[in-house]
Amino acid sequence: MFKRFKFLLTVLFSTLLTISVMTACNANQNAGSGSGSRTVTMATSADYPPYEYVDSSSGSQEIIGFDVDIAKEITSRLGYDLQIQNIDFNGLVSALQTKRADFVMAGMTPTPERKQSVDFSRIYYEAKNTIVARQGSNFRTTDALKGKTVAVQLGTIQEGVAKDLNEEKNLGLNIKPLNRINEIIQELKAGRIEAAIVEDTVAKGYVESNPDLEFNTIPNAGEAGSAIAFPKGSELTAEFDRVLGEMIENGKVEELVSKWFSTSVPAAK
Ligand code: ARG
Repeated sequence: MFKRFKFLLTVLFSTLLTISVMTACNANQNAGSGSGSRTVTMATSADYPPYEYVDSSSGSQEIIGFDVDIAKEITSRLGYDLQIQNIDFNGLVSALQTKRADFVMAGMTPTPERKQSVDFSRIYYEAKNTIVARQGSNFRTTDALKGKTVAVQLGTIQEGVAKDLNEEKNLGLNIKPLNRINEIIQELKAGRIEAAIVEDTVAKGYVESNPDLEFNTIPNAGEAGSAIAFPKGSELTAEFDRVLGEMIENGKVEELVSKWFSTSVPAAK
């Protein structure tokens, strides 16, 4: 009888020991980096060099860019593995709402409307809008767009800017919302649209690789910065924002700005 009890006690003890060792290992993996840590999924619209684009030059088809470098730095410092998902810009907010992605980095601007559906980190980069058109068009102000066919990326603040020009300035633009920036550039080159509203650093890259195009910067009407977006109430928001804040403080973001924004990045033609 006593022997049996002793045996049971030994089994119980070793089971407990195994469980506690396993839990300790798990805790370790969550805290550290490398294999076994939690994978977080970032959704982006990789049509936006130098923020995010598919690296076709190396043949790897990897998504790279300013946002991707920031995401890699934050996730590695927090001990997460990073997975990137490429979807159209217009689907990004709903990818967060349906929890198909843990966060979005896509040069996304925090707007009051988006803030109703998702949470944002602090802003890490400020941009301006430009008018992109064929060489010689000379559209220097938004008034010059009166009555023109103008493309914008669907679901972006640029679409909002175009709508405001019609509502507030009565410019009578024929607005063409398209899913991807590449399509906008193609439509412009083919003469099917007369202009597009695109953010400055992105416009610069596309114009450099398409000498038949030009761009002119226009004053910002509303918000224009980029921030990281999260599903409402996500536990990632606070820790990501903290590391992002440190990266702004210690010059890491500045370093990445000069890495990606001062040299020409090969934009798709
Ligand atoms: N900043 C603009 C916005 O939030 C445009 C961003 C477009 N981003 C992209 N990856 N295509 O609406």
